[in-house]
Amino acid sequence: MAQELTKGLFITFEGPEGSGKSTHSKRLYRDLLNEGYDITRTSEPGGTALGEGIRELLLKTDSVRLDNMSELFLFEADRAQHVREMIKPSLKANRIVLCDRFNTATFAYQGYGLGMRMDLIEELDALATDGVRPDLTVLLDVDVPTGMARAKARGPADRMERRDIKFHEDVRRGYLALAALEAEKIRVVAAGDDIDRVYDSVKKEVYGLIERYKRTG
Ligand code: TMP
Repeated sequence: MAQELTKGLFITFEGPEGSGKSTHSKRLYRDLLNEGYDITRTSEPGGTALGEGIRELLLKTDSVRLDNMSELFLFEADRAQHVREMIKPSLKANRIVLCDRFNTATFAYQGYGLGMRMDLIEELDALATDGVRPDLTVLLDVDVPTGMARAKARGPADRMERRDIKFHEDVRRGYLALAALEAEKIRVVAAGDDIDRVYDSVKKEVYGLIERYKRTG
């Protein structure tokens, strides 16, 4: 049976490398689709034709030199396009948008990881997001050695994964600090556990939100 919502819901998945974001968001996508919800599943960087090009430059291309400032602008350029081309129209149509990574990743990776100025990130990010904010962020938390081992098992390391352990520890610490600042919106789920148990916790957070905006009768 088709399920309707009283507004679009923007749900993002975040976490350090190898936290299992896409595994859980894919599973959730299938479950919600089966229950009759209208859903858009997407990710950053990516999600649009421009975003796919930017993703390639940011993560895969070794021959391109990239200063930290250029890196920040590229993530925000990807987001500016993604918000306008895909996220806003989907939310306007009262759909659920599931997005692997969004702006919390920039504060964690470029802010805490690279040590870039937070006020600068905030300013650029406000231009890119244009008022779009997640209704819920599921932060899948995993310790760095476990996450990096999972990422390694998936295939060759990308540009981010090749950064040193300290960078990745700073990113994880950053995510947890950001979650502590916004405990209602950024929900931490321990992701080192058995995969079904992790999924149950993810589901609990997401369904808690959806129930509040379900159209009845
Ligand atoms: P993933 O899609 O496999 O998670 O890879 C995306 C990578 O890009 C990951 O290492 C996190 C990183 N990233 C940032 O550094 N800043 C950002 O704003 C976003 C969206 C991702």
